Amino acid sequence: QITTIEATTDGSDKVGAIVHAAWVKHDVAQCGYCQSGQIMSATAFLKALPRGRQPTTVEIDAAMAGNICRCGTYARIRTAVADAARALA
Ligand code: FES
Repeated sequence: QITTIEATTDGSDKVGAIVHAAWVKHDVAQCGYCQSGQIMSATAFLKALPRGRQPTTVEIDAAMAGNICRCGTYARIRTAVADAARALA
C-alpha cells in the first residue's frame, strides 16, 4: 500500500493531518522540495510510536535521518514532530 501527501489533507489519514497541521503551525517549509517526504516520514514515525509517549530529539532525528533538506529546516522539523506527538497524546 502506498500513501501520498494528499492523504494528509483529504481526511483519509488522521495522523498525517495532525502532522501536516503542525508543519503549517511551525512554518517548517522553506523551498518545499523535501517537505512531502519529511511529512510522510514523520507520519509513519508517529504512527509507530506508542500512543501518548513523547519522542526524544534523538528518536526524532533517527526517524527523519533518511530525508535531506537542502534548506536546513531540521530545527523546525523537530519542533513540528514533537508538537504533533503532543497533539496525538
Ligand atoms: S525545504 Fe527546501 S529542501 Fe527542504
